[in-house]
Amino acid sequence: MCGIVGYVGEKRAAPLLLDGLRRLEYRGYDSAGVATLDGDHVQIVRRVGFVQNLAAAIPADMPGHTGIGHTRWATHGGVTEQNAHPHADSTNRIALAHNGIIENHALLRARLEDEGIVFRSETDTEVLAHLVSKFYAGDPVDAVRKALLLVQGTYGIAVIFAAHPGVIVAARNGSPLVVGKGDGETFLASDPHALAAYTRQVVYLEDRDIARIDQQGWTLSRLDGSDVSRVVEVLGEEWADDGRGDYSHHMLKEIREQPESLARCLRGRVVPESGGARLGGLDMDPRDIASIQRVGVLGCGTSFHAGLVGAAAMESLARIPAFAEIASEFRYRNPVIGRDDMFFAVSQSGETADTLGAVREVQVKGGRIFGVVNVVGSSIARACGKGVYVHSGPEIAVASTKAFTSQVAALLVAALSFARTRTLGPHEGKSFGDELLAVPSAVGEWLQSEPQSVMDAVELVTKGRFVFFLGRGVSHAVALEGALKLKEIAYLPCMAYPAAEMKHGPIALIDRNTPVVVIVPDDVMRDKTLSTIAEVKARGARVIVVHSAGDMHAARVADISIPVPRASTLLSPLLTVLPLQLLAYRSGLALGRDIDRPRNLAKSVTVE
Ligand code: G6P
Repeated sequence: MCGIVGYVGEKRAAPLLLDGLRRLEYRGYDSAGVATLDGDHVQIVRRVGFVQNLAAAIPADMPGHTGIGHTRWATHGGVTEQNAHPHADSTNRIALAHNGIIENHALLRARLEDEGIVFRSETDTEVLAHLVSKFYAGDPVDAVRKALLLVQGTYGIAVIFAAHPGVIVAARNGSPLVVGKGDGETFLASDPHALAAYTRQVVYLEDRDIARIDQQGWTLSRLDGSDVSRVVEVLGEEWADDGRGDYSHHMLKEIREQPESLARCLRGRVVPESGGARLGGLDMDPRDIASIQRVGVLGCGTSFHAGLVGAAAMESLARIPAFAEIASEFRYRNPVIGRDDMFFAVSQSGETADTLGAVREVQVKGGRIFGVVNVVGSSIARACGKGVYVHSGPEIAVASTKAFTSQVAALLVAALSFARTRTLGPHEGKSFGDELLAVPSAVGEWLQSEPQSVMDAVELVTKGRFVFFLGRGVSHAVALEGALKLKEIAYLPCMAYPAAEMKHGPIALIDRNTPVVVIVPDDVMRDKTLSTIAEVKARGARVIVVHSAGDMHAARVADISIPVPRASTLLSPLLTVLPLQLLAYRSGLALGRDIDRPRNLAKSVTVE
């Protein structure tokens, strides 16, 4: 969703702002704009649609060495140029970009209108520009502080003042901002992707921090006026690479990166010598682990699906009662949270508002919650304080792929670590750990020799009326993930179901135009799932079967057979999901969809 960039330095700001906005495009937005300082006023250019429209509208010689930029995903007010950010005050001497929602904007707007201010947009944000202007009396930080003290809601803001060339004031409450230190230049962004190409030395603002940013760096203070300093962090190397390389789409690149992203996630964490695992970020000693009564795994979308696999592993491997739940449901149902319960919040972006809300709910009730997060320093990672980074590296395509497998792997490592403390002996632990460590190369080999049958499956599903995805246990989680991918990327109507539930209703939908994708690894549920295949085939369905290599019976009953390397049940999602990711990608391609930026979706959903 919305993104912010800022630049102060010797170079012309506009091209750098545009580059930063391009790097934020993956988040989803519907308009974009930049503001730079031009003598005694601010110059603002905004356009509806993609950043390339904005780039075409920006004069080649747009002046200013200080500037801010924004991509907007409309909430208050339609998708129009007037509503796009940045917004100026009435004197055009201040420009402001904002992520988040100002909840008391209507009241503030009415007061400002009574004072004679004429509004030029329908946004909640414009009140901030006028408030900052109203309180400006020579000190830009003081003006921003006084304005924010009147505001209820969430914000990440960037403000420039014509009277202060070389300065950006930034402030955060609930919407992330990160400042990056370059050589004689300083960058600001709502997301480390936007500045990783320029600097890896960053500081993350905390809620109620205000930063005065100039060429030399930053000075931080708190909303209450006190001073504060924050630790400079160094972004991992993987964050510098967010290009497409030779790939036609980020999604394909990210699918193919899974051998490396999985290896990165596992590195140093599985300990073959003890048959266990080490997750330093959890900071739990064996006594803490032994006392866990229940594990809850919370997330949205793909992250929820990874959570389903994680919860299954916690229960079957570590023998801890466990469940996974959609974060937006959990947070409002007044859940019972025991003092010995342990929760995981799973999120690629670390910014999903529903998941962050669930984190807060666990914390309000005195529960322990740990992040399983990809983006370092993100809001969920910070709110949890402790957790596991999955180290997928930048995931740019809206549809999550490599983050899913890394989330599953991280949760499996956590389950192994808990299991080794509670239930598993060294030999069983070692054999699980060894198998896990072998997964990245099995994934790599399969991706390198992707079976032709994936294309046959594409042919079948793109011609179908409705597609079913079936599986049992962890393969049901994979079915859910496969169906989500096909909806997101190919816009094909489809549904995932636990295989045995088909006969309790959905089977009424089956006919020859409803292709059925069945995930059936060679585990204890295999024979049962094969019976479901027989039932749907008897009603005319054509069946695509994702099965373990060498399972000749599963291959024979399939109309289209897609073998994947063998793995034990809990590890099988890391392999069975691969053909489903490619099925969605190749179906989307065949249907001419916008693969990396599917309609109506945002990569990071920062509103409820
Ligand atoms: C959005 C994205 C999904 C993603 C979900 C959760 O809906 O489009 O792909 O799975 O958010 O995102 P998170 O960043 O919390 O994993």
